[in-house]
Amino acid sequence: MNPFPDDIFTEPEDVDPDTLANLGPLARLAGVWEGRKGIDLNPKADGPERRAYLERIDLQPIDPQANGPQLLRGLRYHVHINTEEEDITFHDQVGYWLWEPATGLVMQSLTIPRGQSLLAGGSAKPDGSGLIVSARRGDTEYGIVSTAFLEYAFRTDSYTLDVTFNADGSWSYVSDTMLTVRGQAEPFRHLDRNTLVRVAEPAPNPLAVITRAKASTT
Ligand code: HEM
Repeated sequence: MNPFPDDIFTEPEDVDPDTLANLGPLARLAGVWEGRKGIDLNPKADGPERRAYLERIDLQPIDPQANGPQLLRGLRYHVHINTEEEDITFHDQVGYWLWEPATGLVMQSLTIPRGQSLLAGGSAKPDGSGLIVSARRGDTEYGIVSTAFLEYAFRTDSYTLDVTFNADGSWSYVSDTMLTVRGQAEPFRHLDRNTLVRVAEPAPNPLAVITRAKASTT
């Protein structure tokens, strides 16, 4: 059954401008984070390569976003990864984490500079211990799109990100990307995992700053 309303244009009213106070299960991710113990398994011509990596993730609140009646709260993020051995970027990624308070839907959009994007959908884990989102190639809602060369050589079939909130305030992820590599009989599991520790607090979203400034002058 279609869960959506007939009126697709009217936006919600009286939305709290302060995103940080209304992030639901995404609240644990807001801020700037570093992880020094990342492990990556990636496909190379002569077999899987395992590399340790250093990661910095900046996750900042955005203003409330409405698709007609659908209200979304979110964080804009940038992941930057390099290694001890090399200064060159090992992995770079931008996107949004989004949460729909009315339904509990959690989404992660992801773009990497290989010519690849995806929108993963999921939810908070029922016990509040983390988040889980996934995307599948060919799915029109939570799908993966890639440039023609990647489709030919490193076809990305699925993506799952499992996030765990740790008791000490850090959080960990396991990123599981299934690739079909040209010439290889078995699918390749491109796995990444790391634990992130907060190094800076998030900045308030633009509308929260403006609203507070106006309130202090009246
Ligand atoms: C922490 C996260 C990640 C790290 C550190 C990482 C790192 C790497 C590295 C080092 C390679 C080999 C590059 C090369 O030989 O040129 C690679 C290949 C690849 N990665 Fe990732 N990756 C990550 C996440 C992802 C995600 C989330 C996706 C897609 C959903 C993805 C898609 C690919 C693809 C399609 C390739 C094969 C392309 C190629 O080798 O030219 N990666 N990754």
